[in-house]
Amino acid sequence: MEFKNILVEQKENIAVITINRPTKLNALNKSTIEELHEAFKNLDANTKVKVIIITGSGEKAFVAGADISEFANYTVEKGQELARIGQELLFDFVQNLSTPVIAAINGFALGGGLELAMASHFRVASTNAKMGLPEVSLGVIPGYGGTQRLPQLVGKGKAMEMIMTAGMISAEEAKDWGLVNYVVEQEELLPFCKKIAGKIIRNSSVAIAAAIKSINANFNNAVNGFDIEIEQFGKSFGTNDFKEGTTAFLEKRKPNFE
Ligand code: COA
Repeated sequence: MEFKNILVEQKENIAVITINRPTKLNALNKSTIEELHEAFKNLDANTKVKVIIITGSGEKAFVAGADISEFANYTVEKGQELARIGQELLFDFVQNLSTPVIAAINGFALGGGLELAMASHFRVASTNAKMGLPEVSLGVIPGYGGTQRLPQLVGKGKAMEMIMTAGMISAEEAKDWGLVNYVVEQEELLPFCKKIAGKIIRNSSVAIAAAIKSINANFNNAVNGFDIEIEQFGKSFGTNDFKEGTTAFLEKRKPNFE
């Protein structure tokens, strides 16, 4: 698949996906969502790729939301379909990816943009970033998981306030609220995320995939997270990485994971 709306760059074990519609502040239209699905799927299947960083092009926006021009005339049924397909192809897909995904929020992360950042495994923002879920100002609600993931990250009261006011919060506020892990200068954003990625890639990617599954289970009412943890913990003992990790420790050397 040839990409028109995104750029994908891979250097050794780290891949960077850049959403590249700067004149529309990287708004997520249907084809961008399809391209992102394809890119995440391919990178996840590539065993060389150990961390994926997602960011927006330009200095102004990560993603300014779903593309409003595309859904302005939708019916009730088409609205539901938009949310369902989007969640399946991108937002749930990213959350459940085996490869760690870091959102590098380089500017506005609004609506679907903040929802994409929240579906990522964790977030780093640049000092100029602004975050919000402004949907109710358009007469709609967040439809890409925002009403579910925002309370998980910042608590119910703050999520209620953010969604009801349709307001934006600064990067520093987002850090205080637990929505982003770090705030750095814009030119430092990608190098900083790559530095964290560098710490991740030293570890067993098989074990990291199991940890992602177990942590996500904490937020899935249909399963018991402790049971998933027990299952994933047990499975680790059957992996080559476990043999290598424990042997390397006992031999006082660095592990060489698969
Ligand atoms: N969907 C479609 N187009 C969008 C968009 C979106 N979510 N966000 C921005 N754009 C487009 C604008 O329409 C404009 O296009 P144009 O030049 O063809 O008119 C371009 O991106 C630049 O945006 P503009 O509004 O001129 O920039 P600004 O600096 O004045 O304002 C924002 C920046 C982010 C405050 C403003 O663009 C905005 O409020 N966007 C919508 C945010 C939103 O409600 N998102 C949730 C959607 S559910």
